[in-house]
Amino acid sequence: MSRSQDNALILNAENLKQHYHVKQGIFKPDAVVKAVDGVSFTLEKGKTLAVVGESGCGKSTLGRMLTMIETPTQGQLAHLGQDLLTLSKDEQASLRQKIQIIFQNPYGSLNPRKKIGSILEEPLVINTKLSKGQRKEKALAMMAKVGLKEEHYERYPHMFSGGQRQRIAIARGLMLDPNVIVADEPVSALDVSVQAQVLNLMMDLQQEFGLSYVFISHDLSVVEHIADDVIVMYLGKVVEQGSRQQLFDNPKHPYTLALLSSTPQLSPDKRRQRIKLEGELPSPLNPPSGCAFHGRCSYANDRCRSETPVLNKAEEGHFIACHAVEENRLEPLAVGVA
Ligand SMILES: Nc1ncnc2c1ncn2[C@@H]1O[C@H](COP(=O)(O)OP(=O)(O)OP(=O)(O)O)[C@@H](O)[C@H]1O
Ligand code: SF4
Ligand SMILES: [Mg+2]
Repeated sequence: MSRSQDNALILNAENLKQHYHVKQGIFKPDAVVKAVDGVSFTLEKGKTLAVVGESGCGKSTLGRMLTMIETPTQGQLAHLGQDLLTLSKDEQASLRQKIQIIFQNPYGSLNPRKKIGSILEEPLVINTKLSKGQRKEKALAMMAKVGLKEEHYERYPHMFSGGQRQRIAIARGLMLDPNVIVADEPVSALDVSVQAQVLNLMMDLQQEFGLSYVFISHDLSVVEHIADDVIVMYLGKVVEQGSRQQLFDNPKHPYTLALLSSTPQLSPDKRRQRIKLEGELPSPLNPPSGCAFHGRCSYANDRCRSETPVLNKAEEGHFIACHAVEENRLEPLAVGVA
């Protein structure tokens, strides 16, 4: 494969927004929830973009836009240079096959009345002209790739463990030879010991098939091993974005620092000053003025309470939305503190 293909730009998102109008009763005007409020990124072939943040920050909404389950209220989205949002319904349907989604809950996402074989073959029945025999051959081959045995073909989902079910969901996601997998908290429901196995499997499959991943997680420690790039979101907005190295070795945004300090860190040189994430996540129906994080941030000042910070370039590929970073008034971090 040529180098230019290796570096192929698979997804390009620019300023994606999803604003929901929510009814508040007959006498009140609709509220607007800015579930995703301006996300931009590029994703190359074979790379993983991790999207991280607390519950409700807009991760799944972003995933639904990337897989065309929902149309963005604003922004641009291209797959292999093709604008996904201006395509006809037929063109969208065929491109949708190339961007698959895997969900958190391996218990709810598999039809309990269908055997594994037919769950895996269903996308082929709908989208290809393969014969019954060819479909079975492809399903068995994919089962082997994800570590399932031939005899599992005739079994029902309830006969499998959570980890095995997630393997089945991954296999189903790969049946139509996608370029991109959006994995929405794929290991969050699994035991820690099983999480590592499923993550390793995903990394092996990425290598083998040249897949690009958008890996959604609330847990930074999970993405540290799998991400090439990371987006940290807070109430619909990107607060920090950069390479894995920039995010983990040189994090800047107070929210990123708080998320990092709440994840266990074994290596002493990486132990950081603990920044406790205090207070509740504000309601997205009534977000705070200025920087949405100001009520929980120990660096907040008057400017933070009134002016929304924009995403500024700190160094090549590293972007941060924080007045304190811009004003250079963050205290140096104490590294090596337990
Ligand atoms: N269809 C909808 N209509 C109105 N509001 C919605 C809709 N879908 C999501 N939201 C709101 O948008 C915000 C973002 O939700 P989303 O599910 O994307 O967050 P998330 O980061 O995936 O959270 P979690 O970690 O809990 O899965 C939330 O405030 C949610 O209540
Ligand atoms: S802009 Fe202000 S409130 Fe927001 S994260 Fe930076 S210092 Fe904290
Ligand atoms: Mg979610």
